[in-house]
Amino acid sequence: MSFNRPFILALFILLVVAVATSSPAEKAPAPQNDAASQFRLRCSSCHGQNGDGNTSLGRTLHAADLRSAEVQKQSDEQLAQVIADGRKSMPSFSNSLTQGQVRALVGYIRTRATKRQE
Ligand code: HEC
Repeated sequence: MSFNRPFILALFILLVVAVATSSPAEKAPAPQNDAASQFRLRCSSCHGQNGDGNTSLGRTLHAADLRSAEVQKQSDEQLAQVIADGRKSMPSFSNSLTQGQVRALVGYIRTRATKRQE
């Protein structure tokens, strides 16, 4: 039975290595978090971090409540177009955001609606 000890030790080392190498991937920011930080950086001054548009700038410019049914009933394409091209006081972001980032922000706006229903 003396050969069992190195075998168990090897298994243990394998386990430690597996855990150690898997944790950096878990710590990498998820796309969701990335969109949330983009939203905080570029959108929350007008729309508020929760999307309700209830900021002093948002109230002045009549920023849409992104959680509302009027916004949420629109297609991803429609929302992406407003973000990319802008509309009235809503600035255009086609020069500062990639299409992928715009898509991710549409996804973030969808999560705001879900939060409201909770
Ligand atoms: C300078 C203030 C400002 C900033 C910054 C801003 N918005 Fe807006 N946004 C507005 C205003 C004002 C409207 C309403 C436009 C209108 O009346 O047609 C709007 C409308 C929208 C709409 C359309 C809502 C609807 O009713 O169809 C979306 C989607 C949107 N914004 C998303 C974003 C996202 C995402 C960002 C960040 C990348 C952002 N906005 C940044 C002011 C802003």
